[in-house]
Amino acid sequence: MSLRGRSVLITSGPTREFLDPVRFLSNASSGAMGFALAAAARSAGAKVTVVCGPTDLEPPPGIRVVKVVTALEMRKETLRRVRGAAVIIGAAAVSDWRVASVKKQKIKRNASPLRLTLIPNPDIIKDAAAERRPGQVFVGFALETRRATERARGKLESKGLDMVVANGPASLASGRIAATLVAKDWTRRLPTGPKARVARTVVAEITRLLNERRA
Ligand code: C5P
Repeated sequence: MSLRGRSVLITSGPTREFLDPVRFLSNASSGAMGFALAAAARSAGAKVTVVCGPTDLEPPPGIRVVKVVTALEMRKETLRRVRGAAVIIGAAAVSDWRVASVKKQKIKRNASPLRLTLIPNPDIIKDAAAERRPGQVFVGFALETRRATERARGKLESKGLDMVVANGPASLASGRIAATLVAKDWTRRLPTGPKARVARTVVAEITRLLNERRA
C-alpha cells in the first residue's frame, strides 16, 4: 500500500504567542513527531508539506516546510492548503491561548504582579476538518495525562476526525512514544517505540483509511 502521488499536509511543533517583542508563551513540543510522520509519508510516496512552528530539528529530506511562529499564522498557512491535500495530520502542539493584546514595547519589570488576559486560539485541525471534501482523511493527536483513549474518542467526534493518536506527556520531549490509535470503529494500542517506527504504523493505518474511502 502506498501514498504515491497523494498530498499529505502536517502541522508540527509548538507555536509561540508573544506578550511583547521579546517574550512569549509556548510549550515543550520538539516537532519530532511531525517530522517523523513527514518522513514516513514521504517514504510511502506522498508529496509532503509540513506547516511547522519553531523547532531546532532538521526536517527530513524531500519535504516542503512552511515555517510559522504563532497559532494564527499556522492556521492561515494550513487552511489555505487543506483543499489540495488527501491527508491532513494535526501533530502540532498549538498553544491553547494567546495574549489578548500584544504590547508593542517591552513590558517593564516592576515589583507588582503582571496580569495577562489570555484568549483561546482557534482549533486548527477542527477548522480544517470542517472543510472536509470527499475522500480526505483527517488525523489528530491527543496528549492526555489520564483517560487518554476515552478522551481521544471524544476528540475524534468533536473535531470531526477519522483517527486520533492518543499519547502521554512523556512523548513530548523524548524520542519514543506510547500511542493508542483511535478510529471510528476500532482502537489499536501500539507498543512503546521510537517515533519513527510509530509514525510508520500511523501512516500505514492512514493509507488503509484512505483506500477504504476510495473503495
Ligand atoms: O483539544 P486538544 O488540544 O487536546 O487536541 C489536540 C489535537 O488538536 C492535535 O491534533 C492538535 O494538533 C490539534 N489542535 C489544533 N489547534 C488547536 C489545538 C489543538 O489543531 N488550537
